[in-house]
This record gives sequence, C-alpha cells and structure tokens, in this order.
Amino acid sequence: MPSPLRLGIAGLGTVGAGVIKIIQRQSALITARTGREVTISAVSARSRDRDRGVRLNDYAWEDDPVTLAKRDDVDVFVELMGGSDGPAKDAVEAAIAAGKDVVTANKALLAIHGQAIAEAAESKGVSVRFEAAVAGGIPCIKALTEGLAGNEITRVMGVMNGTCNYILTRMQSAGLDYQTVFAECEELGYLEADPTLDVGGIDAGHKLAILVAIAFGTQVNFDALNIEGIERITTEDIEQAADMGYRVKLLGVAQKTGRGLDARMTPCLVPDKSPLGQLEGGTNMVVIEGDSVGQIVLRGAGAGEGPTASAVMGDICDLARGLSLPVFGVPATTLQSIEAAGVGAPAPWYLRMTLVDKPGALAKIAAVLGDEGISIDRMRQYGHTSTHAPVLIVTHKAARPALDQAIVAMHGTGVLASEPVAIRIEEV
Ligand code: NDP
Ligand code: HSE
Repeated sequence: MPSPLRLGIAGLGTVGAGVIKIIQRQSALITARTGREVTISAVSARSRDRDRGVRLNDYAWEDDPVTLAKRDDVDVFVELMGGSDGPAKDAVEAAIAAGKDVVTANKALLAIHGQAIAEAAESKGVSVRFEAAVAGGIPCIKALTEGLAGNEITRVMGVMNGTCNYILTRMQSAGLDYQTVFAECEELGYLEADPTLDVGGIDAGHKLAILVAIAFGTQVNFDALNIEGIERITTEDIEQAADMGYRVKLLGVAQKTGRGLDARMTPCLVPDKSPLGQLEGGTNMVVIEGDSVGQIVLRGAGAGEGPTASAVMGDICDLARGLSLPVFGVPATTLQSIEAAGVGAPAPWYLRMTLVDKPGALAKIAAVLGDEGISIDRMRQYGHTSTHAPVLIVTHKAARPALDQAIVAMHGTGVLASEPVAIRIEEV
C-alpha cells in the first residue's frame, strides 16, 4: 500500500472538527475506497485549550497556520479557518509555495483571490480543491468539472444561502415579518458573524462567482456579479407572490446572453411548483443546464458540520486517489475575463405599487408601461382602502432598463402613492 496521505488542518471549528470526526470514524472505509490511509499530522486553531468535542492528542499543534502549511510531514494543507484575507490567504499561499496540495471550504477566499491562487497552484503543479465552498454538502463542483465535462453549460442557477432561504420560507409559512425572522436566526446561530454576508447576498454571490468560473471558463470575478440582498422583501410581497403562484427566492443565475455574461444573485420569483419553488428552510439547490444533459437538479444541505465536512472529505479522498485537475477545470491561464452583459436578459416582472384610487389611475400606469414597450400579462387590485388601491402587475418579458424608465415615468403621473417594488420572475 502507498504511504499515508498526511494532512495538516488549520481551523477546528464547525467544519474542521467535523472533518477530524469523519477521519477518526471512517478510517477503514476511506482506506478501502482510496487505497491509501489518510492521517492527520498537525492541526492549528486560535485557542489550544478549547474543547472541540474531538480527540486531538495524537496530532502535533501549531499556533501559526502558515508554519503548519509548510511542515515536512504535511502533504495536503486543509484550510478551514475562513476569511478572504489574513491567515487563510497567507497559509494557502505558503502551502502552494511549499508544493503542498490544498483543500479549502473558503468561498470568500476563492471568490476574491481564486485566479491568483489557481495560477500559483498550477505553476507549482499542485491541486487546490474546494467542493465545500459552494452549496456545502452538494457535490456541484465535481458535477460541473467531471460529470458534465462533455457539456456546454448554458445556465447555472442556485439557492446557495441556507439562511436566506430559511428566512424567506419562514416569513411565508409563519406570516412573520423580515425583522422577526432575522432575530430568530440570530438566536438560532444561523447568521454569519457579519450577517450582511448572508442577507446582503454576498456569501451566495461568492459561491456563484466560483460556479461561473467553472461553468463558463472565465476568471473568478466577484465584482462582475449583480448582487442584491433580501432585506427589502416584505411579507406582503411574499403573500402576494404566493397568491399568484410564485415563491420568492434569493436566486443566483448565470447565463450567456448576446451581449456577454449575465450573472446575478438577487431576489427572484420562481413558480411555486418548480423544484426551486418547493425548496424549504435552510436547504440549498443547484440547477445546471447543459446542451446535452438538459437540466439537472442537485438538492441538499448547504451548511452544517456533517454535510460540509462530507464535501471536504470528498476532495481529500480524490487527492488520496491521485486525481488531479486544473483548479477551475481548465488551465488557469486560459480562463477568459468576464464580459459582463451589463443588462440582464429580458424577463417577466412582478410589480407592486399603491395607487391613489381615482378614475384613470390604472390607465396612466398601463400607459407608462406601454410607452416603454412593456406589455402587461396579468394585473389585479387587492386590499382597497377608501383612498388607496394596492395593485399588482405581472409583465411580459421586458429588459430592466425599460422597466426602470417606466418606474421613473410612473412618478410623474401623480397617481403613485408608494414606491413600486419590482421583482424579476425567473423562468426555471
Ligand atoms: P468556525 O468559525 O466554526 O471555525 C473557524 C476555525 O478557524 C476556528 O477553529 C478558529 O480557531 C480557527 N481560526 C480562525 N482564525 C485563526 C487563526 N488566525 N489561526 C488559526 N486558526 C484560526 O468556522 P466554520 O468551521 O464554520 O467555517 C470554516 C470555513 O468553512 C469557512 O471558510 C466557511 O466559510 C466555510 N464553510 C462553512 C460552512 C458551515 O456550515 N459552517 C459551510 C460551508 C463553508 P478557534 O476555534 O480557536 O477560535
Ligand atoms: N451562511 C451560509 C448559509 C453558510 O447560510 O448558507 C454556508 O455557507
């Protein structure tokens, strides 16, 4: 049997402890499957004394993750600390420079520095693997780079932040407002240390930036994404959308348009009977469409100790088997820079607004939309008061700039009593 694959693990929190538990519990299974023993040489975290619910006595301890990354008895550096810069970046760079393979779950690091890391790794002839960085336990990186390698990818979509999906589905099922469910998430410990990473769409955007690179052969470029969070979604939007057969999701979508790549992580409406529409709670879903395969749907836990550690272990097992691939599926130097479409592909839109209830008010709004070439598919009024009429409009496909123009023009009609809310309807 070949010599053991020796790991150095930096970060012993939720994911790091989970990985060590799997290695301790499933050692025989891993050896049988990979033909090689996987061992841990050394570990690192900030606090040496903390009880992590896992036995660490057999492993050497390093206070400094960079020193750990360079140790002679480490073949693979496993980075599970987090953060786009600081010790995670320093240690990954040190590991690559020292000729070690790297496994990480760090989406922020890869979304911001992925291109430089990939180029450095490939010039040193080492692997960097990151299955856990996108959608936790769902093996979507492997699906794209390996199982779907023979396809031209036409679109990738995903609900990739469990916290946002929990908030949106809980608002719907319990009729609670955003602030109440947000507070609930704080109590449950669901939120990132900086909650804007979750609710601002940034964490999910990091994941989409990584998927885009693999799906479309482009350099990772988080800044090329259009990102909008869920903070402004109201219970009213959720209820009205549900009444019309839709669910609100923080949805990542990336596809090529005639003008370039349209990649965005924004709140969208999806049909309630679609797989994305049916996705409840903290679960994630990644939908991939290829020219030969058609559409495939991957669903599972996007976070948590077991699922995330499972994905990290998949990468470690691949390295134990000797599998080696370019970091983003093709050599990093051949990845193209993203030509951002600027304007997203046209789509139907959900528009909610309140009008002053007087003769001709609705006609004025319809005329403004017509002036911008936007056709109305469905429309209804609900919850009249003596003076005001809330109105819902679903348009046929329209480009966002035309819609924005129409909204500006609505303000000049004198019948608008609230700022219109526009949510894209994604055809899934
Ligand atoms: P935790 O906060 O639970 O753990 C982070 C660990 O890193 C801790 O053990 C901490 O040490 C250690 N650490 C932090 N800074 C340093 C440092 N300067 N030197 C040495 N060790 C340090 O994070 P998670 O386990 O939740 O996440 C780890 C990574 O996995 C992140 O990149 C995250 O985005 C990613 N991820 C997490 C998921 C999840 O469900 N938790 C899902 C998908 C990805 P100490 O314990 O002593 O404070
Ligand atoms: N905050 C993330 C989520 C954790 O809610 O999905 C997993 O990346």
